Amino acid sequence: MAILEVKDVRFSYRTRYHQVDALKGVTYAFDEGKVYALVGKSGSGKSTLLSLMAGLDLPQEGEILFEGRPTSAMNLDQYRREKAAVIYQSFRLFPALTVEENVTYPMELRGLGGKAAREQARALIQKVNLPETALDRFPSMLSGGEQQRVAIARALGMDSKLLLADEPTGNLDTENGNHIIDLLVRLAHEDGYCVIIATHDMDILQKMDCVCRVQDGTLHTVK
Ligand SMILES: Nc1ncnc2c1ncn2[C@@H]1O[C@H](COP(=O)(O)OP(=O)(O)OP(=O)(O)O)[C@@H](O)[C@H]1O
Ligand SMILES: [Mg+2]
Repeated sequence: MAILEVKDVRFSYRTRYHQVDALKGVTYAFDEGKVYALVGKSGSGKSTLLSLMAGLDLPQEGEILFEGRPTSAMNLDQYRREKAAVIYQSFRLFPALTVEENVTYPMELRGLGGKAAREQARALIQKVNLPETALDRFPSMLSGGEQQRVAIARALGMDSKLLLADEPTGNLDTENGNHIIDLLVRLAHEDGYCVIIATHDMDILQKMDCVCRVQDGTLHTVK
């Protein structure tokens, strides 16, 4: 069964005088163990689709099913907290928390605290290839590539196999960007995550299992 199913999803942004029909009927199924790219020109709806899959909003028509259950029937706060891990171009770490505290934060939200959380944080930091000495540093004391690794480690601390990434390499140089993509591919292929990456970076597409183009509010399979 697909971990995430998008079924005829429509979404419009409505402001006082205007309406933007961002998604006009998108259908697709995402499996565990695969890495997907969402491509398409600026404004095509990639981030909108990711934010609906992340539970930041609900589709106005159609539905999104996580492990077979529509997000509209879930407690969205809980879904965001426990199931939909998101990483962003700008990392969005908590600046006043150490790396360890950043990584244990989502664990604590789901009731895993203290020594067990710290041990898991240590293991996750290792998994994303950061040195243990990073644990008691603040995000500002890390390079961009390292901060993105922390963001991934934090996402992995959630109890979920779904990893959504909105331009995760957008603020990184080519080399660091490649390392992040390789890490995301490994998480899919070795640990069974479903990784969905919105990107403008055409160079990473050969590493993807599937590529979808978002165009005029609809989604087309490219690969
Ligand atoms: N909060 C908002 N209010 C109104 N319109 C919005 C809002 N957010 C996005 N839009 C519009 O919805 C459409 C889709 O935007 P979206 O951010 O999903 O595109 P994108 O594919 O992620 O673009 P980019 O590659 O530049 O990140 C665009 O026309 C955008 O202007
Ligand atoms: Mg976007």
